[in-house]
Amino acid sequence: MRSVLFVCLGNICRSPAAEGVMLDVVDNAGLSDAVQVDSAGTGGWHVGNMADSRMRAAANRRGYDLQSRARQVTADDIEQFDLVIAMDQSNLENLKRLAVGRADNIHMLGEYLDADNPPDVPDPYYGGESGFDQVLDMIERACPEILKTLMES
Ligand code: 4NP
Repeated sequence: MRSVLFVCLGNICRSPAAEGVMLDVVDNAGLSDAVQVDSAGTGGWHVGNMADSRMRAAANRRGYDLQSRARQVTADDIEQFDLVIAMDQSNLENLKRLAVGRADNIHMLGEYLDADNPPDVPDPYYGGESGFDQVLDMIERACPEILKTLMES
């Protein structure tokens, strides 16, 4: 079993979207029994909540049904998951601070995108509608590459 954990700040916008898209990519590749996909936030403010309704609506328009509930990332997650994918530089720094053992499995989503993309997946929480689509665009491009890396590792 391979495993990937997506991490953002609140676990209600970017990382649940990445989880939902990745589940779809994994399913389409016929690898649902071989890959575990999860998401978490570095902060705990929204623990137990569904993804933000704006994120769920934007994902729904593309055929993704976001079902996850927010949870806070733990040091144990970093030990357990093969890949831990941070949405932005701040998430990455928080994860590296949290790590007690290995940290070599922590990467940024932007590492799986062409250089013409911004390195950070922008936080859409305080912005307008288009921010949610920009997040999905980046995630949709990165997820097949992340799956490839996961299956080759
Ligand atoms: P996320 O977005 O990190 O993509 O889930 C955010 C959601 C909530 C907050 C910040 C970012 N917040 O400050 O409550």
